[in-house]
Amino acid sequence: MLVRDECEITPAEFRRVSELVHRHCGISLNDGKMSLVQARLAKRLRAGRFGTVTAYLDHVQADPGGSEFTELIDAISTNLTSFFREDDHFRYLADHGVPGMLARRRGAAGGARVRAWSAACSTGEEPYSLAMTLLDALGPKAGSVDLKILATDICTRVLRTAEAGVYDEARVRSVPPDKRARYLRPERQGGRAAFKVVPEVRDAIRFRHLNLTGAWPFAGPFQFIFCRNVMIYFDKPTQERLVGRFYDCLEPGGLLFTGHSESLTGVAHRFRYVQPTIYARP
Ligand SMILES: C[S@@+](CC[C@H](N)C(=O)[O-])C[C@H]1O[C@@H](n2cnc3c(N)ncnc32)[C@H](O)[C@@H]1O
Repeated sequence: MLVRDECEITPAEFRRVSELVHRHCGISLNDGKMSLVQARLAKRLRAGRFGTVTAYLDHVQADPGGSEFTELIDAISTNLTSFFREDDHFRYLADHGVPGMLARRRGAAGGARVRAWSAACSTGEEPYSLAMTLLDALGPKAGSVDLKILATDICTRVLRTAEAGVYDEARVRSVPPDKRARYLRPERQGGRAAFKVVPEVRDAIRFRHLNLTGAWPFAGPFQFIFCRNVMIYFDKPTQERLVGRFYDCLEPGGLLFTGHSESLTGVAHRFRYVQPTIYARP
């Protein structure tokens, strides 16, 4: 007799997980993701001693605001990131984004405010890279500028790592040496060499839990929005809605950066194309 492993997911259970996740946060799980989802749910089933995926999902759906719902979303989300990932974005920001913003502001009121948003910040490497780039690009002006970076993610686990701002030696290797010397301090963690982000960088960032497909408790305006390597998990209508909302909370001239595999080709939008995966609000 064939015995079903309790962690094994049936096609019907997979559909149920997909619908639940899509409804909550826009992530589309196609059939190719079935074994990945099974592996990720297996840990939750073991932790809660659930006999089957159905029993687990019944528990999650009985309490949609509960902690296991959060654990499910945490388990499903893919959090891969790195410092200065897709580094041409940071070069563009320093060489064109910041000078362009300063030129637009010359003589205008409110010139001392700079607002950026890392809209799917994962474990923090993206907003910290953003902060280091903006501080360097602002140069001596940085001291007189009110710089704030909003960093949001739906996954609570990654936000805890991001807020701590401590990274293994291997993770900080992609930070350019001059920025590493200026913005990271060596710190031993559990006997291992690690680096902590300095307060100047850490204090510029507010980490918040936010579902991009839900309500946003702010309206901007931002000068720079990084929304990278998350839209790839959303279907086209969700991407279009999201890109439209980003447009509305950018100031004129503000920039949207998307992941290298997330060009807006085929997505209806109002942005002016700048170069691949960089878009400006006219
Ligand atoms: C692959 S990481 C990308 C991190 C970073 N932006 C980068 O490019 O390196 C994708 C992140 O998007 C988050 N995410 C997925 N769906 C989300 C949603 N609906 N709202 C907010 N964040 C979401 C995940 O939790 C994950 O941390």
